[in-house]
Amino acid sequence: MATASRYRRARRPLAGRRVLVTGAASGIGEIMAREAARRGASHVVIWDRDEHGAERVARTITARGHRACAWEVDLTDAEAVERAGRAVTEAIGGIDVLINCAGVVTGKAVLDVGEDDLERVYGVNVFALYRTARAFLPGMLERDDGLIVTIASAAGLVGVARQTDYSASKFAAVGFSEALRAELRHAGSAVTTLTVMPYYIDTGMFAGVRTRFPRLLPVLEPADVARRVLDQIEAGAATVALPRFARAVQLVKVVTPVHDILTDIFGINATMDHFTGRVRRADADTTTPGV
Ligand SMILES: NC(=O)c1ccc[n+]([C@@H]2O[C@H](COP(=O)([O-])OP(=O)(O)OC[C@H]3O[C@@H](n4cnc5c(N)ncnc54)[C@H](O)[C@@H]3O)[C@@H](O)[C@H]2O)c1
Repeated sequence: MATASRYRRARRPLAGRRVLVTGAASGIGEIMAREAARRGASHVVIWDRDEHGAERVARTITARGHRACAWEVDLTDAEAVERAGRAVTEAIGGIDVLINCAGVVTGKAVLDVGEDDLERVYGVNVFALYRTARAFLPGMLERDDGLIVTIASAAGLVGVARQTDYSASKFAAVGFSEALRAELRHAGSAVTTLTVMPYYIDTGMFAGVRTRFPRLLPVLEPADVARRVLDQIEAGAATVALPRFARAVQLVKVVTPVHDILTDIFGINATMDHFTGRVRRADADTTTPGV
């Protein structure tokens, strides 16, 4: 029998919580890790395949008197995730808020997407969600407390040209987060999920993209996105689309020709025409814009 409390938002302050952020060596993951510490998280764990970047972020957090640690973890390696999950649980007892933020994009047209691209994109953007859940959900279920955040994308709501791999992986990420929320609710668990669907963010991941109507659909500021995600975590939200206008796409989807016409008018399929993606800097000791 459903009770109203199952559907009520429960506030979830980050203070005193153990927070793990994947992909936190740069971009919004880095800012969320730093901001979670500032909001009083008892421990911030940074996972990234970029060891130096992860250590740099952990150092900036510990230098301000908070507890943080960095782990080099390649999320495409299921055994490495399992090992790191065990080690984190042994070290600090578990994770209360898991933020799946790591992501990759190729920006390739469909016929240029190779098997190795698919393995990497699905490995990081989709399969890693199951791997991190296997590592930390059992502890959350035991404590009947916890939150799994999935940083998906507005490209998980609408298919975008030159993103057949990325969009499809983000649709999967949105589906994973929603289905997991349903599964946990059905089981009567207090553990839940938050699905985050942002439009383009100025981190470098999508360097070169252009937006036709920046007032309605601006390229978002990384610090602003990070702050709003943490606000929504603390407010107990289940989904967040940024900017809010991005959510409107779900309404127009009901009529396919309207959806196609509007996404073309808004220039969504031209956004990737000048995509270059991040050019990796040899010197990883740099700071994400907006931090
Ligand atoms: N930048 C955007 O425009 C945008 C828009 C919507 C959603 N997103 C999503 O937001 C998230 C963060 O994006 P960002 O813009 O901060 O990107 P970013 O490239 O700055 O950060 C991604 C991080 O993931 C890490 N990573 C990549 N592959 C990994 C692997 N195999 N194992 C471990 N770590 C790995 C990278 O080293 C990097 O530190 C991603 O999931 C992305 O898809 C980004």
